[in-house]
Amino acid sequence: MQAVNDTIEQTVAFVKAQLAHAEAGHDWWHIQRVWNNVNLLLCHEQAHRLTCELAALLHDIADSKFHGGDETLGPRIAGEFLGSIGVNPNVVRHVQDIILNMSYKASLGTVTFHSKELEVVQDADRLDAIGAIGIARAFHYGGFRNRELYHPEVAPNVHQDKETYKNSTAPTINHFYEKLLLLKDKMNTEAAKRIAEQRHAFMEQFLEQFYREWAGQTV
Ligand code: ADP
Ligand code: NI
Repeated sequence: MQAVNDTIEQTVAFVKAQLAHAEAGHDWWHIQRVWNNVNLLLCHEQAHRLTCELAALLHDIADSKFHGGDETLGPRIAGEFLGSIGVNPNVVRHVQDIILNMSYKASLGTVTFHSKELEVVQDADRLDAIGAIGIARAFHYGGFRNRELYHPEVAPNVHQDKETYKNSTAPTINHFYEKLLLLKDKMNTEAAKRIAEQRHAFMEQFLEQFYREWAGQTV
């Protein structure tokens, strides 16, 4: 029987190694922020702590958009790792179900799995996609994919299905309308909804000033 602290410590080491060369928006620091968010949300929500923490730590070890679109790879690697360190098989399966179903892309398709733990981890991940960090991550990802910052004639595609979302090559500003500004109203927990309000307002302010500067105004 593994002590919980050992399990977490071994998982942290595994995730750091897996993400050693990751894009900066989906690297160890993103994982650490999501893990912190989970701990914050668990002060207000009743959920199985170990399951939430492990899912937060392992949720981006093999993100499908960096691995040829294979959505089962991440859950598979996570499951093999957790099994190898002796985690309870029910917890392992739950962590795999969370990872498979928590992404924004997954939420645009048919989601059949629900749990309080998934709600907490999904909110924790989504909080890191908005606000100042959310802005930084979006433009970093756009740069990584060589996207334009903005194009006045390319309209955002707000009502997207999973395939359209996945295959988008739109300028980064469009991603705000296609995902980031929609997250506030998609939070599951009351605590995340409260935190999201302020971060959302900050993104709106950012966009307003972006357009003013784009138009050649001084502020
Ligand atoms: P999820 O993990 O919820 O499926 P993603 O991995 O698609 O979400 O996105 C995580 C973050 O990566 C986004 O919140 C954003 O910061 C960045 N990102 C992903 N796709 C894009 C995109 N097309 N343009 C700009 N940023 C993006
Ligand atoms: Ni993530």
